[in-house]
Amino acid sequence: MSSDVESKFHFSREMVSGEIYRKYEKAMRKHWKVEDLDFTQDALDWQRITPEQQKGLLGITIRFLAGEQAVTDELVPMLAASHALRRFDWTMFLATFLLEEAKHAEFFMRWHEAVVGIVDPSEVAPHFLTRGKTVDPTGRFEVRDVMHEALPNYGRILHEAALGGTEKEIERAFVQFSAAYNGFVEGVLTMPSYEIVIDTTTQWDAFPTLNRGFKLILADEGRHITFGTTACRMLIEKDPSYEEVVHEVFDAYRGNIVGLVEYQKAVPGLDVGKYQTMKVRHYRNRCREMGVQPDDTLIEQILDPSIDFVVGVEAG
Ligand SMILES: [Fe+2]
Ligand SMILES: [Fe+2]
Repeated sequence: MSSDVESKFHFSREMVSGEIYRKYEKAMRKHWKVEDLDFTQDALDWQRITPEQQKGLLGITIRFLAGEQAVTDELVPMLAASHALRRFDWTMFLATFLLEEAKHAEFFMRWHEAVVGIVDPSEVAPHFLTRGKTVDPTGRFEVRDVMHEALPNYGRILHEAALGGTEKEIERAFVQFSAAYNGFVEGVLTMPSYEIVIDTTTQWDAFPTLNRGFKLILADEGRHITFGTTACRMLIEKDPSYEEVVHEVFDAYRGNIVGLVEYQKAVPGLDVGKYQTMKVRHYRNRCREMGVQPDDTLIEQILDPSIDFVVGVEAG
Protein backbone atom coordinates (compact mmCIF):
# COMPACT_ATOMS: atom_id res chain seq x y z
CA MET A 1 0.00 0.00 0.00
CA SER A 2 1.33 3.45 -0.83
CA SER A 3 2.61 5.61 2.02
CA ASP A 4 0.07 8.19 0.86
CA VAL A 5 -2.74 5.98 2.05
CA GLU A 6 -0.83 4.91 5.14
CA SER A 7 -0.55 8.56 6.16
CA LYS A 8 -4.33 8.64 6.64
CA PHE A 9 -3.97 6.33 9.64
CA HIS A 10 -2.39 7.39 12.93
CA PHE A 11 -2.84 4.53 15.38
CA SER A 12 0.02 2.19 16.10
CA ARG A 13 0.59 -0.47 18.73
CA GLU A 14 3.30 1.70 20.19
CA MET A 15 0.91 4.67 20.49
CA VAL A 16 -1.99 2.81 22.10
CA SER A 17 0.30 1.32 24.73
CA GLY A 18 1.96 4.70 25.39
CA GLU A 19 1.68 7.09 28.37
CA ILE A 20 -0.45 9.76 26.70
CA TYR A 21 -2.93 7.29 25.27
CA ARG A 22 -3.36 5.77 28.75
CA LYS A 23 -4.22 9.22 30.09
CA TYR A 24 -6.91 9.49 27.43
CA GLU A 25 -8.36 6.13 28.51
CA LYS A 26 -8.28 7.18 32.16
CA ALA A 27 -10.04 10.47 31.39
CA MET A 28 -12.79 8.55 29.57
CA ARG A 29 -13.22 6.23 32.58
CA LYS A 30 -13.29 9.06 35.13
CA HIS A 31 -15.91 11.19 33.40
CA TRP A 32 -18.34 12.92 35.81
CA LYS A 33 -21.34 15.17 35.19
CA VAL A 34 -22.30 18.48 36.79
CA GLU A 35 -25.98 17.58 36.49
CA ASP A 36 -25.44 14.69 38.93
CA LEU A 37 -24.42 17.12 41.69
CA ASP A 38 -26.92 18.46 44.22
CA PHE A 39 -26.46 22.08 45.31
CA THR A 40 -29.27 22.16 47.93
CA GLN A 41 -27.12 21.99 51.07
CA ASP A 42 -24.65 24.54 49.68
CA ALA A 43 -27.54 26.98 49.11
CA LEU A 44 -28.66 26.52 52.74
CA ASP A 45 -25.08 26.99 53.99
CA TRP A 46 -24.77 30.21 51.99
CA GLN A 47 -27.70 31.66 53.98
CA ARG A 48 -26.16 30.86 57.37
CA ILE A 49 -22.57 32.12 56.94
CA THR A 50 -21.65 35.71 57.75
CA PRO A 51 -21.49 38.43 55.06
CA GLU A 52 -17.73 38.54 55.65
CA GLN A 53 -17.40 34.82 55.00
CA GLN A 54 -19.60 35.18 51.91
CA LYS A 55 -17.30 37.88 50.57
CA GLY A 56 -14.14 35.84 51.25
CA LEU A 57 -15.51 32.70 49.62
CA LEU A 58 -16.98 34.48 46.62
CA GLY A 59 -13.64 36.20 46.04
CA ILE A 60 -12.21 32.75 45.31
CA THR A 61 -15.06 31.07 43.46
CA ILE A 62 -15.59 34.03 41.11
CA ARG A 63 -11.94 33.85 40.07
CA PHE A 64 -12.34 30.18 39.32
CA LEU A 65 -15.48 30.95 37.31
CA ALA A 66 -13.43 33.36 35.18
CA GLY A 67 -10.28 31.22 35.15
CA GLU A 68 -11.93 28.02 33.95
CA GLN A 69 -13.48 29.91 31.05
CA ALA A 70 -10.13 31.47 30.18
CA VAL A 71 -8.21 28.16 30.13
CA THR A 72 -10.95 26.51 28.04
CA ASP A 73 -10.49 29.20 25.42
CA GLU A 74 -6.68 28.88 25.38
CA LEU A 75 -6.44 25.23 24.39
CA VAL A 76 -6.79 25.56 20.62
CA PRO A 77 -3.05 26.18 19.91
CA MET A 78 -2.14 22.91 21.61
CA LEU A 79 -4.66 21.01 19.48
CA ALA A 80 -3.32 22.67 16.34
CA ALA A 81 0.26 21.83 17.33
CA SER A 82 -0.54 18.19 18.11
CA HIS A 83 -2.09 17.89 14.65
CA ALA A 84 0.95 19.52 13.03
CA LEU A 85 3.28 17.16 14.94
CA ARG A 86 1.12 14.21 13.85
CA ARG A 87 0.57 13.10 17.43
CA PHE A 88 -2.97 11.75 17.32
CA ASP A 89 -2.76 10.41 20.88
CA TRP A 90 -2.07 13.98 22.08
CA THR A 91 -5.09 15.19 20.09
CA MET A 92 -7.27 12.50 21.68
CA PHE A 93 -6.14 13.40 25.18
CA LEU A 94 -6.62 17.12 24.45
CA ALA A 95 -10.21 16.41 23.40
CA THR A 96 -10.90 15.19 26.96
CA PHE A 97 -8.88 18.10 28.37
CA LEU A 98 -10.98 20.66 26.47
CA LEU A 99 -14.22 18.96 27.51
CA GLU A 100 -13.12 18.95 31.15
CA GLU A 101 -12.18 22.64 31.21
CA ALA A 102 -15.60 23.45 29.71
CA LYS A 103 -17.18 21.26 32.41
CA HIS A 104 -15.23 23.03 35.17
CA ALA A 105 -16.60 26.33 33.85
CA GLU A 106 -20.09 24.75 33.86
CA PHE A 107 -19.62 23.61 37.46
CA PHE A 108 -18.83 27.13 38.69
CA MET A 109 -21.62 28.65 36.60
CA ARG A 110 -24.16 26.21 38.13
CA TRP A 111 -22.80 26.65 41.66
CA HIS A 112 -23.11 30.45 41.49
CA GLU A 113 -26.55 30.18 39.93
CA ALA A 114 -27.94 27.70 42.48
CA VAL A 115 -26.17 28.95 45.62
CA VAL A 116 -25.67 32.69 45.18
CA GLY A 117 -28.28 33.38 42.48
CA ILE A 118 -25.91 35.06 40.02
CA VAL A 119 -25.12 34.14 36.39
CA ASP A 120 -25.04 37.11 34.00
CA PRO A 121 -21.77 39.01 33.59
CA SER A 122 -23.36 42.09 35.18
CA GLU A 123 -24.23 40.00 38.27
CA VAL A 124 -20.92 38.20 38.74
CA ALA A 125 -18.47 40.93 37.72
CA PRO A 126 -19.01 43.13 40.83
CA HIS A 127 -17.69 40.25 42.96
CA PHE A 128 -14.41 40.01 41.05
CA LEU A 129 -12.16 41.82 43.47
CA THR A 130 -9.32 43.66 41.81
CA ARG A 131 -6.64 44.99 44.05
CA GLY A 132 -5.24 47.35 41.45
CA LYS A 133 -1.78 46.56 40.23
CA THR A 134 -0.18 44.14 42.64
CA VAL A 135 3.29 45.23 43.60
CA ASP A 136 6.10 43.82 45.64
CA PRO A 137 6.85 46.64 48.11
CA THR A 138 10.59 45.86 47.97
CA GLY A 139 10.50 46.33 44.19
CA ARG A 140 12.45 43.12 43.63
CA PHE A 141 9.69 41.25 41.84
CA GLU A 142 7.34 42.21 39.09
CA VAL A 143 3.88 40.67 39.13
CA ARG A 144 2.45 40.07 35.67
CA ASP A 145 -0.82 38.71 34.32
CA VAL A 146 -0.22 35.04 33.58
CA MET A 147 -3.75 34.22 32.51
CA HIS A 148 -4.38 37.12 30.14
CA GLU A 149 -0.82 37.86 29.04
CA ALA A 150 1.35 34.73 29.16
CA LEU A 151 -1.18 32.18 27.92
CA PRO A 152 -2.52 34.19 24.95
CA ASN A 153 0.99 35.34 23.94
CA TYR A 154 2.64 31.93 24.12
CA GLY A 155 -0.52 30.50 22.56
CA ARG A 156 -0.23 32.83 19.56
CA ILE A 157 3.42 31.85 19.07
CA LEU A 158 2.46 28.16 19.20
CA HIS A 159 -0.48 28.61 16.87
CA GLU A 160 1.64 30.44 14.30
CA ALA A 161 4.34 27.78 14.54
CA ALA A 162 1.70 25.07 14.05
CA LEU A 163 0.43 26.78 10.89
CA GLY A 164 3.74 27.37 9.15
CA GLY A 165 6.73 26.65 11.34
CA THR A 166 9.35 23.94 11.19
CA GLU A 167 9.05 20.91 13.46
CA LYS A 168 11.70 22.41 15.78
CA GLU A 169 9.79 25.70 15.99
CA ILE A 170 6.56 23.89 16.84
CA GLU A 171 8.26 21.75 19.47
CA ARG A 172 10.01 24.69 21.11
CA ALA A 173 6.78 26.72 21.16
CA PHE A 174 4.91 23.71 22.55
CA VAL A 175 7.36 23.43 25.45
CA GLN A 176 7.02 27.18 26.08
CA PHE A 177 3.22 27.12 26.08
CA SER A 178 2.91 23.89 28.04
CA ALA A 179 5.46 25.00 30.65
CA ALA A 180 3.31 28.12 31.17
CA TYR A 181 -0.12 26.49 31.03
CA ASN A 182 0.37 22.99 32.50
CA GLY A 183 3.60 23.50 34.44
CA PHE A 184 3.19 27.01 35.84
CA VAL A 185 -0.53 27.90 35.96
CA GLU A 186 -2.15 24.50 36.51
CA GLY A 187 0.86 22.77 38.03
CA VAL A 188 2.10 25.22 40.65
CA LEU A 189 0.23 28.52 40.87
CA THR A 190 -3.35 27.33 41.26
CA MET A 191 -2.66 24.26 43.37
CA PRO A 192 -2.84 26.15 46.69
CA SER A 193 -6.13 27.74 45.58
CA TYR A 194 -7.80 24.34 45.29
CA GLU A 195 -6.45 23.31 48.67
CA ILE A 196 -7.56 26.57 50.27
CA VAL A 197 -11.16 26.01 49.17
CA ILE A 198 -11.11 22.38 50.30
CA ASP A 199 -9.56 23.41 53.66
CA THR A 200 -12.03 26.29 54.11
CA THR A 201 -15.14 24.20 53.43
CA THR A 202 -13.79 21.47 55.71
CA GLN A 203 -13.00 24.00 58.47
CA TRP A 204 -16.50 25.54 58.20
CA ASP A 205 -18.12 22.11 57.82
CA ALA A 206 -20.17 23.60 55.00
CA PHE A 207 -20.61 23.55 51.21
CA PRO A 208 -20.31 19.79 50.62
CA THR A 209 -20.88 20.10 46.87
CA LEU A 210 -18.32 22.86 46.45
CA ASN A 211 -15.88 20.61 48.31
CA ARG A 212 -16.84 17.62 46.15
CA GLY A 213 -16.62 19.64 42.94
CA PHE A 214 -13.15 20.91 43.81
CA LYS A 215 -11.97 17.36 44.47
CA LEU A 216 -13.37 16.14 41.14
CA ILE A 217 -11.78 19.08 39.34
CA LEU A 218 -8.47 18.50 41.09
CA ALA A 219 -8.40 14.89 39.83
CA ASP A 220 -8.95 16.17 36.26
CA GLU A 221 -6.24 18.80 36.73
CA GLY A 222 -3.76 16.13 37.77
CA ARG A 223 -4.12 14.53 34.33
CA HIS A 224 -3.86 17.89 32.50
CA ILE A 225 -0.68 18.75 34.35
CA THR A 226 1.03 15.42 33.79
CA PHE A 227 -0.01 15.40 30.13
CA GLY A 228 1.84 18.70 29.69
CA THR A 229 4.87 17.76 31.75
CA THR A 230 5.13 14.35 30.03
CA ALA A 231 4.89 15.99 26.60
CA CYS A 232 7.60 18.48 27.66
CA ARG A 233 9.80 15.63 28.88
CA MET A 234 9.44 13.79 25.56
CA LEU A 235 10.34 16.92 23.61
CA ILE A 236 13.24 17.82 25.90
CA GLU A 237 14.59 14.28 25.53
CA LYS A 238 14.55 14.84 21.77
CA ASP A 239 16.31 18.21 22.08
CA PRO A 240 17.79 19.14 25.47
CA SER A 241 18.06 22.81 24.43
CA TYR A 242 14.30 23.10 25.17
CA GLU A 243 15.02 22.88 28.92
CA GLU A 244 16.11 26.50 28.82
CA VAL A 245 12.65 27.47 27.53
CA VAL A 246 11.04 26.05 30.68
CA HIS A 247 13.32 28.14 32.92
CA GLU A 248 12.67 31.27 30.84
CA VAL A 249 8.91 30.90 31.35
CA PHE A 250 9.16 30.39 35.12
CA ASP A 251 11.64 33.26 35.31
CA ALA A 252 9.41 35.68 33.41
CA TYR A 253 6.59 35.13 35.94
CA ARG A 254 8.74 34.62 39.02
CA GLY A 255 6.95 37.32 41.03
CA ASN A 256 3.59 35.57 40.62
CA ILE A 257 4.88 32.36 42.11
CA VAL A 258 6.94 33.93 44.88
CA GLY A 259 4.07 36.11 46.17
CA LEU A 260 1.29 34.77 48.36
CA VAL A 261 -1.95 33.73 46.69
CA GLU A 262 -4.42 36.37 47.84
CA TYR A 263 -6.82 33.82 49.31
CA GLN A 264 -4.12 32.75 51.73
CA LYS A 265 -4.91 35.96 53.56
CA ALA A 266 -8.62 36.25 52.68
CA VAL A 267 -9.83 33.43 54.90
CA PRO A 268 -8.88 33.88 58.57
CA GLY A 269 -7.36 30.91 60.35
CA LEU A 270 -5.50 29.38 57.42
CA ASP A 271 -1.86 28.39 57.82
CA VAL A 272 -0.17 30.66 55.25
CA GLY A 273 3.17 28.81 55.34
CA LYS A 274 1.50 25.54 54.38
CA TYR A 275 0.59 26.80 50.92
CA GLN A 276 4.06 28.17 50.15
CA THR A 277 5.58 24.79 51.11
CA MET A 278 2.98 23.18 48.87
CA LYS A 279 4.03 25.38 45.92
CA VAL A 280 7.63 24.28 46.37
CA ARG A 281 6.59 20.64 46.44
CA HIS A 282 4.57 21.08 43.26
CA TYR A 283 7.39 23.00 41.56
CA ARG A 284 9.85 20.19 42.35
CA ASN A 285 7.38 17.59 41.06
CA ARG A 286 6.81 19.47 37.81
CA CYS A 287 10.58 19.77 37.24
CA ARG A 288 11.03 16.06 37.92
CA GLU A 289 8.22 15.17 35.50
CA MET A 290 9.66 17.42 32.78
CA GLY A 291 13.17 16.16 33.44
CA VAL A 292 14.58 19.62 34.18
CA GLN A 293 16.79 20.89 36.99
CA PRO A 294 14.80 22.91 39.61
CA ASP A 295 15.92 26.51 40.18
CA ASP A 296 17.09 26.58 43.82
CA THR A 297 16.91 30.37 44.04
CA LEU A 298 13.23 30.27 43.12
CA ILE A 299 12.61 27.69 45.86
CA GLU A 300 14.42 29.83 48.45
CA GLN A 301 12.37 32.87 47.42
CA ILE A 302 9.04 31.02 47.68
CA LEU A 303 9.95 29.92 51.21
CA ASP A 304 11.40 33.28 52.31
CA PRO A 305 8.96 34.57 55.00
CA SER A 306 10.12 38.17 54.45
CA ILE A 307 8.63 38.02 50.94
CA ASP A 308 4.93 38.29 51.72
CA PHE A 309 3.28 40.48 49.09
CA VAL A 310 0.03 39.17 47.72
CA VAL A 311 -0.82 38.31 44.13
CA GLY A 312 -4.26 37.86 42.57
CA VAL A 313 -4.59 34.41 41.06
CA GLU A 314 -7.10 33.36 38.48
CA ALA A 315 -7.32 29.65 38.48
CA GLY A 316 -8.47 27.08 36.03
FE1 LIG B 1 -6.95 22.11 33.73
FE1 LIG C 1 -9.93 23.39 35.05
